[in-house]
Amino acid sequence: MSVDRLVIRRPDDWHLHLRQGAMLRAVLPWSARQMGRAIIMPNLRPPVTTPAAAEAYRAEILAALPAGSRFVPLMTCYLTDGTDPDAVAEGYAKGIWTAVKLYPAHATTNSAHGVTDLAKVAPVLERMQAIGMPLLIHGEATDHGIDIFDREAVFLERTAAPLLDRFPRLRVVLEHVTTQEAVAFVRRHGPSGRLGATITAHHLLINRSDLFAGGIRPHLYCLPIAKRERHRLALVDAATSGDPWFFLGTDSAPHPMKDKEAACGCAGCFTAATAIELYATAFDRAGRMDRLEAFASLNGPRFYGLPPNEDTIALERGDAAVPDLVMPEGGAAGDSVLPFMSGEALPWRMA
Ligand code: DOR
Ligand code: ZN
Repeated sequence: MSVDRLVIRRPDDWHLHLRQGAMLRAVLPWSARQMGRAIIMPNLRPPVTTPAAAEAYRAEILAALPAGSRFVPLMTCYLTDGTDPDAVAEGYAKGIWTAVKLYPAHATTNSAHGVTDLAKVAPVLERMQAIGMPLLIHGEATDHGIDIFDREAVFLERTAAPLLDRFPRLRVVLEHVTTQEAVAFVRRHGPSGRLGATITAHHLLINRSDLFAGGIRPHLYCLPIAKRERHRLALVDAATSGDPWFFLGTDSAPHPMKDKEAACGCAGCFTAATAIELYATAFDRAGRMDRLEAFASLNGPRFYGLPPNEDTIALERGDAAVPDLVMPEGGAAGDSVLPFMSGEALPWRMA
């Protein structure tokens, strides 16, 4: 059935990079316009590792919100080899932190302080398991001998599977899954209620050939890197399945143009400017607009034990223009951010 208008509960973004300062102030309004809440990634410089740092970052975000916005940032703790289990538990008990983020050391942007060996953080994971605090995982093996397109699948086998065995009640979100293997893994463990996964809009829309369509496309480069078409199809199938363990997480990750279009360009796609429209595009192409609400607005809160947002948004068929550029205040030319699919028209827009 083809519909031209769809009203859904307001979505949430369960994986978002907002940065700080002028960049934060430039990108935040785009998320706040659409999303009720967002899980805020802690990979700042320096990373957010203490309750005090998380409170200060939350205050910076709240101060940057447009007047009247009710957007709620949900803060995360950046896990390091030296993270103190008591500090994690204290920040969780006080409602400062919603979850802990695990970056394997050197897996991606600002992950140099990440975990070098899971054995070192076992006491933290024990405590999180005891208090029910979720662990959000960037699931890529970092060993340079492993082909970049295989890093997620290898991580699942070598690290994620043993981790779930060792901590059988630890609640885990596999972030930004990109492969058939990850989809199968989540389907295997999802029904127990302890494993969920986020899927980005860009991984639903591009495959690895798109990275090189007519030349190298630095703005499509992100981590985990986009995979073959069969993997993209598996992700579309998962997102549109209605299965409650798959939910929306954009991984929107803005970088200044000068850092993307460089000899060694940064990883990250800035999708927040039109996030729900991008997801709608993917769901519409799959003929499954009827399942967008579950994925975008219901499954995430359910996993996190939170109520869905009370208000709604309306989507209608009709061209949504992706903005050309987002410019942080006081920025020069190379400081602007190019939104994913900028200049293109998407088939659904927010009313
Ligand atoms: O592409 C990415 N960009 N992947 C990540 O994991 C981090 C992010 C960033 O912070 O730029
Ligand atoms: Zn991310």
